[in-house]
Amino acid sequence: MCGIVGYIGHRAAQPIILKGLQRLEYRGYDSAGIALFDGARIRLSKTKGKVSDLQEKINSDHNNVGNIGIGHTRWATHGVPNDTNAHPHYSNSGDLVIIHNGIIENYASIKKELSKRGYTFQSDTDTEVLVNLIEDVQKNGGFKLGKAVQIALNQVVGAYAIAVIDIKKPNEIVAARLGSPLAIGVGENEYFIASDASPFIEYTNDAIYLEDEELAIIRLHKETKIRKIKDDSLVSPYIQQLKLNIDQIEKGGYAHFMLKEIFEQPQAIKDTYRGRLLVNQGLIKMAGVEDNLEKFINAQKITIVACGTSWHAGLVAEYIFEDLARIPVEVEYASEFRYRNPVISAKDIVVAISQSGETADTLAAIKLAKAQGAFVFGVCNVVGSSISRETDAGAYTHAGPEIGVASTKAFTTQITVLTMMALRLAKAKGTISNSDYKRHLVELETTPTKVEQALKSDALSKQIAAVYKDVPNALYLGRGFNFPVALEGALKLKEISYIHAEGYPAAEMKHGPIALIDEHMPIVVIATKYGHYEKIVSNIQEIKSRKGKIIGIVTKGDTEVKALADHVIEVPETLELLSPLVTTIPLQLLSYYIAVLLEKNVDQPRNLAKSVTVE
Ligand code: M6R
Repeated sequence: MCGIVGYIGHRAAQPIILKGLQRLEYRGYDSAGIALFDGARIRLSKTKGKVSDLQEKINSDHNNVGNIGIGHTRWATHGVPNDTNAHPHYSNSGDLVIIHNGIIENYASIKKELSKRGYTFQSDTDTEVLVNLIEDVQKNGGFKLGKAVQIALNQVVGAYAIAVIDIKKPNEIVAARLGSPLAIGVGENEYFIASDASPFIEYTNDAIYLEDEELAIIRLHKETKIRKIKDDSLVSPYIQQLKLNIDQIEKGGYAHFMLKEIFEQPQAIKDTYRGRLLVNQGLIKMAGVEDNLEKFINAQKITIVACGTSWHAGLVAEYIFEDLARIPVEVEYASEFRYRNPVISAKDIVVAISQSGETADTLAAIKLAKAQGAFVFGVCNVVGSSISRETDAGAYTHAGPEIGVASTKAFTTQITVLTMMALRLAKAKGTISNSDYKRHLVELETTPTKVEQALKSDALSKQIAAVYKDVPNALYLGRGFNFPVALEGALKLKEISYIHAEGYPAAEMKHGPIALIDEHMPIVVIATKYGHYEKIVSNIQEIKSRKGKIIGIVTKGDTEVKALADHVIEVPETLELLSPLVTTIPLQLLSYYIAVLLEKNVDQPRNLAKSVTVE
C-alpha cells in the first residue's frame, strides 16, 4: 500500500506533490511526507497524520522550494505511524532520500550487516535500510545513482515501488518497481512519478507504466532510460495515452467519494455493458471470452479468486455461472488459495476479480494458477494494472476510478461483467433457452434504470440510519443470489462505521446466530419476491418472535414483509439472478449514512487502504 509521487520539471514541485498525495490517500493515510530539492539542498517535512497535516507542517517548516521532489502517504507495515517512520527517509550521509511502497522482506539481515559497518537508523522501517544499502553500494563501488539502486535492488527480497533523489545529481530521479505499481507521466520538459495516474492527469495524458523488475532513470531534458534490474538490458519505453479525465477523480459536488460512486452506478453499469450487450442482435460480445470460447466451454471447473468485495462479487457469480452455464464454480479467498496447495490443472479456468488490479494476494494466486497450467482470466477495473497484465485474457469493468475505500460501483460492475460472461457461455453451451437468453439480455439492459429507482431510497435510508446508528451489532440475512449481498452489506457497515456486523444465509440463522437476537439487534433481511420468498418470510417470523428489529429490503408493492418488518425499503422488480444489482443499493446507502451520522471518515476508514498491495 502507500502512495508515492515525484516531480521533476519547470514547475514548483511542492503543490503538485501535495495534490497528488491527496489523490493517493486512498492507498494509505497514517502519515505523510515530502522532500524538495532546489539543486543545492534537499529539505524534508514529514508528519504522522494525513496530507492536510503535512500541508500545515510544510507551512511551519517554510518548505516550499525547488522543481524536484518526492512525496509519500503511508500505510504502516514496519514501525508504527509516527513522524520518524514517515517517508521520505534520508541515507546516513543525507545525500540520498527515498520513498517506498512495499515491503523489503530481508531488511533485518541487511540492517545487521550495515550496522556492523557503522550505519545508524532513526526509524523502524525497512525503507531506511534500503536507502542506506544504496548509499553503501555507491560508496564502495563509486557507482552513479542509477547503477547503485540497481545493484542494491538485486540484493533485496520483497516488493517495492521506489523513487530516489541524490544531492549529487540535481536533475535526476531514479524509480523502480517490483510488485507495487509505478506510473511515469511524460509531459513537456517535465516528468511525474506516481502509484497511479491520478496525480498527473491534469498535466499530461502520456504515461509509461513500469513493469516488474524495471528501473527508470528520469532526467530533465532527456529521454527516460529504462533497464531490467536483473540483467541490465535496455527496455524501450512504451508510452500509453490515458483516457482518464480530471472530473472523474474529483468529488463533483458530493460530500464524499463513496456517495458519488454509489450514485454513479447506473452510468457505470451502462459503461460496463456498452458495446458488449447487443440486445437487438441478441449478442454478447466480449473479446476476451470470444477469443477463448473453446477453453471456457471445455473447462472442467472455474475457480474464482478474489478478496473482500470482489470475493463477494465472485460468490454472486458462482450462483450465476452454475445456474446459467452449468459449469462447476469454486470461489476462493486469494489469500487462502495461494498457500493451500490447490488442485488446479490445465483443464481449469481461474477467474481473478479485482477492482484495483493490484491486490497482492490475488496477484500471487494468479501466478500460482498459471504455474499449474490453468488459463487465467482477469476482471479488473484499473486499466493497465498488474493483474490485467498478468492474466492470459480478461474483461475490464470500465466503472471509472473508484476512490472511496469502501467498494460500491466496483461490486455492481463486476457482477455485470460476470453475468454477461455467464450468459455468453450459456448460449454457447446450449444451457439456456433462446427465450430465457433474450429475456436476460433485455432485463440486463434495463438494470441502470432500476438502479436509479433503487437510489430513490436515499432519504429513507438516511432516516433508518438515524434510528440504528448507535447499535453495537447488526445482522444481514439473504438467500440464494442475495446471500453474498448480505455478506457485502455487513462488510460495508463494518468497514466505514466500525459497527460489528455479520452476513448469513437466512436459513443458517437457526444454527447459531439466532442466539444473538433480542430487542436490541437490527437485522437487515433481503426479502425480494422470488423463489425463496415464502422461506424468507418464515425466517422473518422467527426473528419477530425473538423481538429482533427487522429492516426488510423488499420488491416494490410488497405487503407481506411490510406487515412484519419495522422498516422496509423497496427496490424495483427484476429477474432473481439480477437482483443483487438492485438490492445492494440500499445497503450501501444505509452504511454510508450511519458512518456519516457517526462522523466517521467515510472515504478513508481507519486501518484500511484502497489497494492492498501487501499480503
Ligand atoms: O482491488 P480489489 O478489488 O482486489 O480489492 C479487494 C479488497 O481489498 C476490497 O474489495 C476491500 O474489501 C474493500 N475495501 C471493500 O469495500
